[in-house]
Amino acid sequence: MGISHAVGSLFCRIRLLLIISVCLMTAGWAGFYLRGSTHNSPKYKSAADNFWRRPSCERKTEDKGQPLVVEETTKEDLKICPALSPYLKGIVPLSFPPSLTLQDVSKKYPLVKNGFYHPENCKSQQRVAILIPHETGEKHLLYLLITYTPFLQRQQLEYGIYIIHQAGDETFNRAKLLNIGYLEALKEKKWDCFILHDVDLVPENDFNTYLCDSEPKHLVVGRNATGYKLRYKQYFGGVTALSRDQFAKVNGYSNNYWGWGGEDDDLHSRVGFQKMEVVRPPPEIARYTMIFHTRDSGNQVNKERMQLLKKVSKVWKTDGLNSCTYKLLSIEHEPLYINITADIGKPEY
Ligand SMILES: *[C@@H]1O[C@H](CO)[C@@H](O)[C@H](O)[C@H]1NC(C)=O
Repeated sequence: MGISHAVGSLFCRIRLLLIISVCLMTAGWAGFYLRGSTHNSPKYKSAADNFWRRPSCERKTEDKGQPLVVEETTKEDLKICPALSPYLKGIVPLSFPPSLTLQDVSKKYPLVKNGFYHPENCKSQQRVAILIPHETGEKHLLYLLITYTPFLQRQQLEYGIYIIHQAGDETFNRAKLLNIGYLEALKEKKWDCFILHDVDLVPENDFNTYLCDSEPKHLVVGRNATGYKLRYKQYFGGVTALSRDQFAKVNGYSNNYWGWGGEDDDLHSRVGFQKMEVVRPPPEIARYTMIFHTRDSGNQVNKERMQLLKKVSKVWKTDGLNSCTYKLLSIEHEPLYINITADIGKPEY
């Protein structure tokens, strides 16, 4: 009896000790993981908060009565998602495993269907179409999709990714492809916000929210290739966000920029003519990594661009969305994105 009691109480103590140590270990691990995933987010959160709450943004929103909000809804009873999602992590190291395939990525994200996604537990503030003109090199696309699928889902966005291809081997025309993306995407859904996106940039910080603002928004303040500095004060290329109405107001892009350069400066002028002002998120948030930057052979520097830029004020009302002629060759809904291919003609000069 004496011995069995002593053994029993020893067991009790050991068990207690074990329970305590398991608890401590679990708490330690949890702390480590939480710190590991979110240690860099508080400072980005306050910077992003300040950007969203800045006086000009609030005033403009009030003037219009309502912020941009989706009109048709999938589920009426859902609350609107916050502008800053609770799932944001800040800077997430980019990794591109060389063996990864598109099939692997689409298996991992079964909730993206036919190129579309919407959050399950709340209603996205805006419907966001991401338009990416694409020339060649399937790898760019894979890297973008690896990054964007989790990135946009953490931001709780209803989105669709449109990849727009130019048929044939005429000189590349990024701007016209973006106009086509806008026109075709709107035939599928009433998108509120358009992200006009280069294929070789991937975002580093998920506090760089892919929502449109009361003014046209430029999302690339810095990229690793330029030491994270804005290229020049009026720079409006790389990745920009314009609402459906903002893009319509400027008549979209010019259709006449064949080859590299100029079309983004042209868009910047159009935004100015409509008395809109470009806004940029804080530099610590609006950061990108540039993947491969050798220019494709079909995309030589456009020597006409300076001449074209001088004429913007005269031609912008008649050169743009309202004069964008093309022949749609196909629209294919892949699991993670939508492929649009169009015959866009050739330069007139
Ligand atoms: C930017 O980062 C990418 C990916 O890590 C790398 O391949 C590229 O060389 C970097 N560019 C510069 C100029 O550092």
